[in-house]
Amino acid sequence: MSVINKCLFPVAGYGTRFLPATKAIPKEMLPILTKPLIQYGVEEAISAGMTTMAMVTSKYKQAIKNYFEPHTDIEASIKGTVKASLLDEVNHASEQCDFTYIEQQQMLGLGHAIYTGKPLIGNQPFAVILPDDLCTNSGDSVLTQMTKLYEQHPDCCIVAIEEVPMTQVDKYGVIDGELLDGSNNAYRVNSMVEKPSPEDAPTNLAIIGRYILTPEIFGVLENTAPDKNGEIQITDALTTLAKQGKVIAYKFQGERFDCGSVKGFVQATNAFAKAEGVI
Ligand code: G1P
Repeated sequence: MSVINKCLFPVAGYGTRFLPATKAIPKEMLPILTKPLIQYGVEEAISAGMTTMAMVTSKYKQAIKNYFEPHTDIEASIKGTVKASLLDEVNHASEQCDFTYIEQQQMLGLGHAIYTGKPLIGNQPFAVILPDDLCTNSGDSVLTQMTKLYEQHPDCCIVAIEEVPMTQVDKYGVIDGELLDGSNNAYRVNSMVEKPSPEDAPTNLAIIGRYILTPEIFGVLENTAPDKNGEIQITDALTTLAKQGKVIAYKFQGERFDCGSVKGFVQATNAFAKAEGVI
């Protein structure tokens, strides 16, 4: 069993970039082909050995909970037909793990969302997946790669990074750090900055939506001041731990699609459709 068995999903956001679709449908329920983004995230967490999916949700996101619960009428209607297996993947995910939920009452940033999940996590290391970032790899999933690295550095938080064009750094948390001895893909982080302008960015190494966090992060988040927009940033809390040498950034193997943007969503759809022979 993995040393990390809980994965937190911050899924309370409004998904305004996908309005009007997201007026009535959570953005995490938008599908790449026929499978919603949230399920890709859950499958990645399961692949990394996690058994509890902790959803930080909102009153508008009931569809996510419904999705992972049985739908006996549909089951009955497809039973014995050629469509009988179409719910297998989601049913399998539901059977393999527990789903826990807590409501985030106010949208005060990713750090606040993660802190809201504290009662679901308790005092143990945990993973975070932002389902907007859809990651694929032919070998180990990105989260599996990260849990393996965490096992070698159990006092550290791990963030996934990838190189992005300098013109894009203002969409991401960006790290500054040095490669760990003997490594070509893991950096000891010195500092981090949330959504810098290209002139202010220390590197083009951008954080993507996969984290492994030690429970120490909760105490740090309690003492992290909101930014100029009133949001509590996980990047700021991690900066505090980075100054103590406790954050590693990992350049993962695989491909990541930014499904939080319409362009990235379309690119993911095309890539998956080609891979599965749909087009
Ligand atoms: C969040 C984080 C940011 C990170 C990004 C990855 O930003 O605040 O540091 O780079 O996720 O997707 P958001 O995309 O929610 O604005």
